[in-house]
Amino acid sequence: FSSESKFRGRCSRTSTGKRLLRCSTGNDAGPGGLHGTVSVGRNSTSSSQAFFGPKASNSGTRKNLLCQHALSLAVQRHPRFQNLFNLSTPVLLSGDLFTQQLWDSLSQHKAPYGWQGLSHQAITSTLSLLNGSESTRLFAVSRELLPGCIRCAVVGNGGILNGSRQGQNIDAHDYVFRLNGAVIKGFENDVGTKISFYGFTVNTMKNSLISYSNVGFTSVPQGQHLRYIFIPSDIRDYLMLRSAILGVPVPEGTDKGDRPQTYFGPDSSASKFKLLHPDFISYLRERFLKSKLINTKFGDLYMPSTGALMLLTALHTCDQVSAYGFITSNYQKFSDHYFDRMKKPLIFYANHDLSLEATLWRDLHKAGILWLYQR
Ligand SMILES: *[C@@H]1O[C@H](CO)[C@@H](O)[C@H](O)[C@H]1NC(C)=O
Ligand SMILES: *[C@@H]1O[C@H](CO)[C@@H](O)[C@H](O)[C@H]1NC(C)=O
Ligand SMILES: *[C@@H]1O[C@H](CO)[C@@H](O)[C@H](O)[C@H]1NC(C)=O
Ligand SMILES: *[C@@H]1O[C@H](CO)[C@@H](O)[C@H](O)[C@H]1NC(C)=O
Repeated sequence: FSSESKFRGRCSRTSTGKRLLRCSTGNDAGPGGLHGTVSVGRNSTSSSQAFFGPKASNSGTRKNLLCQHALSLAVQRHPRFQNLFNLSTPVLLSGDLFTQQLWDSLSQHKAPYGWQGLSHQAITSTLSLLNGSESTRLFAVSRELLPGCIRCAVVGNGGILNGSRQGQNIDAHDYVFRLNGAVIKGFENDVGTKISFYGFTVNTMKNSLISYSNVGFTSVPQGQHLRYIFIPSDIRDYLMLRSAILGVPVPEGTDKGDRPQTYFGPDSSASKFKLLHPDFISYLRERFLKSKLINTKFGDLYMPSTGALMLLTALHTCDQVSAYGFITSNYQKFSDHYFDRMKKPLIFYANHDLSLEATLWRDLHKAGILWLYQR
């Protein structure tokens, strides 16, 4: 899902050598969306304090009695999905989860799921900065402290959102996840303005800034309450994350000299930055998005799209999830992105499996586990 063919995505890897393929460079969300008219007992005015409240990213079984339509209940009732979901699996990697055992296990696997060939020092020095309790959870306060349901919207960049007028519905959620080239200005009616989390790999973020600057994606979203979700796919992500928290230019590698503040703004506190656990990504791939591509020569490059990772992150942290701008069965009616100036077909790149993702969103929607915006 991404940009023009002139732009060749590197697929964010170097370890496979010289192979250069066209890969998705940014906005992978595969078009999708919910629209959450599920009524819940929570005052969703989301004033700033309440906004960053709830929910440990994985505080074990969720037992929120006030939440009548909690997705965990729908999961438990579903014969297939109850065996796929493990809502206790850690979503984020923080310093206190780093052990020798984790190093030994992850260093047997290549990026994007493992640490093979990555510098031990770079990884540990990054993780040691994520040592506060906030680094273990997505939301600022642990779940028990906030009553009611946590309603999240995940906004992919799919063309289905063009003309959708879903902005207010999206903003009515407690938390809004966006990713890659999430242009807001000029598209407020369709996509809303609220943003709680921005998810990316350094590769997709920088590619989005290049590919979509002409439609207004000239800077990464910033804001006091915004949190960044780093998807580890390469050493670049660890180096950028460490530099962001230290407030220094990236010292080495592809992004050498980049100033993280130009992307993420002046606040460099560790609580602003979250890192998906590589084992969580592997778990998602194995259980939810086990593509046939894995057994092809592109297997090493295969990764769920950025949108898929954000949507599945929300499903493992929120009580209710609405998916907007994600791939639907009638994707051909829509342009690749909502912000495209001219209609462009959705491109199926070698590093993602959008057909499989489309089926997954459809099935999760049917199971009542998420709500997918369709039209
Ligand atoms: C929502 O919160 C506001 C401000 O705290 C309060 O005045 C209002 O009564 C609440 N509404 C509901 C439905 O709880
Ligand atoms: C779910 O994940 C937790 C944490 O990784 C693990 O301890 C537990 O055994 C898993 N449960 C199942 C049923 O696989
Ligand atoms: C985290 O590590 C930093 C640097 O080692 C240290 O200054 C800080 O006090 C630690 N924070 C916590 C919560 O342990
Ligand atoms: C966006 O929607 C408008 C009206 O609904 C349509 O005219 C336009 O072609 C669409 N843009 C793209 C890129 O599909």
